[in-house]
Order: sequence, then structure tokens, then C-alpha cells
Amino acid sequence: MKYSIKSIKTNLTTLIGKTVTLQGWLYAKRSSKKIHFLQLRDGADILQCVVGVDDVNADIFEMTDKLDQETSLIVKGEVRKDDRSPLGFELGVSNVEIIASVTRDYPISPKEHGVAFLMDHRHLWLRSKRQQAILKIRASIITAIRTFFEKEDFTLVDAPILTSNSCEGTSTLFNLEYFGQNAYLTQTGQLYMEAAAMALGKVYCFGPIFRAEKSKTRRHLTEFWMAEPEVAFYKLDDVMDLAEDMLCYIVSHILDTNIRELTVLERDIDALRKTCKPFPRISYDEALEILKQHGKDTVFGKDLGADEETIISKQFDRPVMIHRYPAECKAFYMARDPQNNKLSLGVDVIAPDGYGEIIGGGEREHRLDVLEKTMEEMSIPKDTLEWYLDIRRYGSVPHGGFGVGLERTVAWICDIKHVREAIPFPRTMERLTP
Ligand code: 4AD
Ligand code: MG
Repeated sequence: MKYSIKSIKTNLTTLIGKTVTLQGWLYAKRSSKKIHFLQLRDGADILQCVVGVDDVNADIFEMTDKLDQETSLIVKGEVRKDDRSPLGFELGVSNVEIIASVTRDYPISPKEHGVAFLMDHRHLWLRSKRQQAILKIRASIITAIRTFFEKEDFTLVDAPILTSNSCEGTSTLFNLEYFGQNAYLTQTGQLYMEAAAMALGKVYCFGPIFRAEKSKTRRHLTEFWMAEPEVAFYKLDDVMDLAEDMLCYIVSHILDTNIRELTVLERDIDALRKTCKPFPRISYDEALEILKQHGKDTVFGKDLGADEETIISKQFDRPVMIHRYPAECKAFYMARDPQNNKLSLGVDVIAPDGYGEIIGGGEREHRLDVLEKTMEEMSIPKDTLEWYLDIRRYGSVPHGGFGVGLERTVAWICDIKHVREAIPFPRTMERLTP
């Protein structure tokens, strides 16, 4: 039987005193004349393996003294109960075999390294405890998002990545040549989800998104992941309810399954527990009022930037929803507020503690004439979007949805300052390798 550290922990009572073989990498080592402590990392866990001078032959004892960090190993030994270990056991080693030694000094040592250095070695940095914890939580968040939408009867519909049109503004489009025609990498699956919602009612997509962002902020990647639900007959309030339910579900799933990782990351777990319904819902006008009280005058019509979002999020202990932005600072597809034509029925969800906007969405303009007029005013070319207008030509109904940015959600839940650590191999303006 092939053992892992985890499988031993699960079957500990029957395995105490038994001999097992484990495979992994040397994470760290402490040595004295008579004993070597090897920290063996098997991918999921780290186990202390004790090599005593009297328990192995002399060659092996000498060899284990010289092992370099990240050497890959096969370790054989007896499972021993150990109450000081977080796992409850250690391995009393009887044999160690090298699978492959290290051909150069491992570049990442316990000393502090600069972020640029670590990012250059991202392929190795992933082996550290912190990065493992972040990747595990990211995977759990993805599971939570999928489970939530499945549970709510949504159908997964995959959106294309190559597109012929822009949806979120032309300044962040990646162009490519497509058999003599211009194509772009998708900025959102939304327009396709709108079509799919008319076929299936409740749909969502979840995939990579590309934005040629020329910003070097801690919130921007050029390639990131977004889940985008879209629902026929949803109004703005329904969209806000859905966003609230989804975020509460994600956080409670993480609190159920990832306390260990949150602890590695030193996340303030009590602060995260406050992510409960109801989230405050304020209008853009009310947001301007809050900003004014805090000495930040913002003119009506300006989109809220990182500084503004941080001030507003500091007033609340849980995510806050800001709705009814001026139509001029939002995308062409946003529905106009029937009460005030200057406003759009859009909503942004701002994470606590200055993590910024994690969700953007709202109700879509479903009236053909109003949509065509806005597209003209905003100089949106119609030729590649005739299919999108068809959605309004054949039984148009109110509908809405949102996009939740995966990396920003990971950054908030893990309490990491920069989204580049929230994705395995980040792509930014300045980084395409590794
Ligand atoms: O607010 P955005 O641009 O909204 C849309 O794309 C809508 N079409 C979504 C929809 O309604 N279906 O993006 C949605 C979210 C943001 O709130 C943010 O979390 C994330 O995507 N996001 C980014 N994350 C990392 N890097 C970037 N450059 C991002 N741009 C947006
Ligand atoms: Mg947005």
C-alpha cells in the first residue's frame, strides 16, 4: 500500500508501531551528533522523521546529515505516537533512499527574499507553506462557487475565450490576428451568458478573463478568473441577493474546510466570520456622502477608485454593496434607473479592509431602443454585436447577473496584500514568466 502522511494520520490507531514507506522532499533539517530530524514534505503535509545513530547503518546516518533542502527521498520507518507533533505522530527512520539529489543550492531559504526574486522563482516558491495554503484555499473557493450555483439550479455554460467584440471598453483589449480578421481575448463572458439565460433561465460561466490593464496596482492582473451568473427575470435587488448569498456561502465553506490554512496565513478568522447577511447596501450618492464626511470630495460621474473604496469599506465590518452608479462611468449594457435616467442599475461589491471591488454586475438594459441609443452615444460598434441585440428582438425580458473576480476574493479571504499571490502563475503588465 502507498502511504501518504495524511493517510497515516487518518488510520493512526492501527498504524502506531507499524513500518511504512513515504515519498517526498526534504523541507528542512536539524542535526546533532547522534540524531537528525528531517522534515519530510509529501505535498499535502510535513512530517518529522527522526534518524537516530543507532537505528540506521553508518552510511545512511552520514548521508542524511548532508542532505540538501528539496532533495527527493524515500523514507522507511516506524510510526511513533508523539503528542508534541501537530499530526500526533512522527517516523522513527530505519532507511532513507535518495530519489534525486539537488544539483544547485535551493534558491529559497528561510531568510527574507524580495517579492521580485520570489516571483522569478514562482515555480519553486509554490512549495512553501504559505503558498500551499493560498492555493488550497483558492481551490476550495472554486469548489464553493461551483457547489453554490449547482445547489441553486444554475446550468454551467462555457463562454468563448476568442471573441470578435469588446464589452468592457477597448483600452484593455488584447488583440490578435485571426485568419485575416481582428480577434480579441475575452474581457467577460457576460454577453454570452445573457444569450444563454434566455435559453436556460439560470446560467453561469467560470473561466479565464483577459484585460490588457496598464495598471501596476495590487488589484490588477492581465489574466484572471471570473465566475459570472446571469438570470432571466432578475432585477437589481435579486442580483444583490444572489451576490450576498454566494459570498456568505463561500466564506462559510472556507471556515468549514480551511481553518488550518487560514491559521498558516495568520488570517483574523473572527473578522471573516462577520461575513453574514445582511450586507449594507448603499447608493452611489450615499457613498459620495460618506466620502465627503471623510474629507474626500468626489464629483458625481466619477467611478470610485481604490482610495474611495478603501474609505467606504472601512465604515463596515462586512462586504458593502454600492448600487446605482452614474450611467456614464459604467458599461453600455447597464440598465438605466427608471427613477433617474442618469443612473445605471449596476452594483459593485466592495470587500472589507481595503481589498476593493470583488464583484461587479447589475441589471441589463433589455429595451432594444434604449440599448441602441446608448451604444451610439458610447460609440460601440454595432456590426459585431447584432447577435447581442437579437436577445432584445426576440422576447426580451429584464435580466441581470454579476462577475466575481476569483483572485480578489482569494486575496480578501486569505488576507494577502497583492492579487499576484492569489493565482498560481500570475500574469501582469511586467510578468509573463514563469
Ligand atoms: O467589474 P467587471 O469589469 O465586470 C464585468 O466584467 C462584468 N461584465 C461582469 C458581469 O456582470 N458578468 O469585473 C468583474 C470583477 C471585478 O469586480 C473584479 O473582482 C474582477 O472581476 N476584476 C479583476 N481582477 C483582477 N484583475 C483585473 N484586472 C480585474 N478586472 C476585474
Ligand atoms: Mg467593475
